[in-house]
Amino acid sequence: MTSVTERIQQLKKEKNAVILAHNYTSSEVQDLADFVGDSLGLSKTAAKTDADIIVFCGVSFMGETAKILSPGKRVFLPEPEAHCAMAAMCNADQIRQIRKKYPDHAVVGYVNTTAEAKTEMDVCCTSSNALNVVNSIDSDKIVFVPDVNLGTYVKENTNKEIVLWDGFCPVHQCITIKQVMDLKKKYPDAKVLAHPECRMEVLALADDIGSTEKILNVAKESDAKDFIILTEIGMLHRLETACPGKSFHFPAQAACMTMKMIEPESILRVLEDECNEIVLPKEVIEKAYKPVKKMTDILG
Ligand code: 13P
Ligand code: SF4
Repeated sequence: MTSVTERIQQLKKEKNAVILAHNYTSSEVQDLADFVGDSLGLSKTAAKTDADIIVFCGVSFMGETAKILSPGKRVFLPEPEAHCAMAAMCNADQIRQIRKKYPDHAVVGYVNTTAEAKTEMDVCCTSSNALNVVNSIDSDKIVFVPDVNLGTYVKENTNKEIVLWDGFCPVHQCITIKQVMDLKKKYPDAKVLAHPECRMEVLALADDIGSTEKILNVAKESDAKDFIILTEIGMLHRLETACPGKSFHFPAQAACMTMKMIEPESILRVLEDECNEIVLPKEVIEKAYKPVKKMTDILG
């Protein structure tokens, strides 16, 4: 009998499909993917692929961003109800309101937002380029939505005036100082690497701060053998695969439940049935493309 993996490989060839997976998906999903990475890496890969079909293993805003960048391609979500909790914390209407309140400010929006919310932003950013984007745009006054933690991290590291929104990621918000201190006590020589969605007091305990891909690169290059990783547990598989002989310790319960909804069977289902295709109104794609493109232009 043909296995799920074999069937996926067959269909991928037949349909000229590519499977992209975020670093937080399960190890089974990562092992099936053609490309695994952070939000920025996935966006770039989606923009340049010559596949006809993109199966996007991540939360819905990630698939939508791929569709915005590649409107001519068909993008499918294995689990269309896998949403990012933070993306639900700031909608297009709220951005219009905040613009009225701060008419002299530019709106910089984290990619963890819906396509609709992106239509109201001046420029988009990811966790790996937020500071660079804020420093590069030609406004000194900025409203940063929706992540208060990434926004605070940017604010601490720029001379620009930043107005913050009150969104957050529940997974990173729940990482506590006590958890980090307990891990440090257990692994005194470990390097602490943190995602900027963690709270400021937790980031203060980190040796390095960055996107999921940056965390991976720092761990690869470091001479340390033990690492305390302050982000989602899906990273363990990538870290262990890329860094044999090194050990990685995570705070308990740092798991994004919607990322974990995606399974090999749901990937097979979309490839077989071509269900769960992302369909966005043309005007939403056109308007949302501008802030996303501006972000990629800033990066050169
Ligand atoms: P990265 O851009 O670092 O992959 O992070 C995305 C995300 O959702 C973090 O919670
Ligand atoms: Fe959203 Fe947090 Fe999950 Fe990242 S970890 S996708 S920010 S809910």
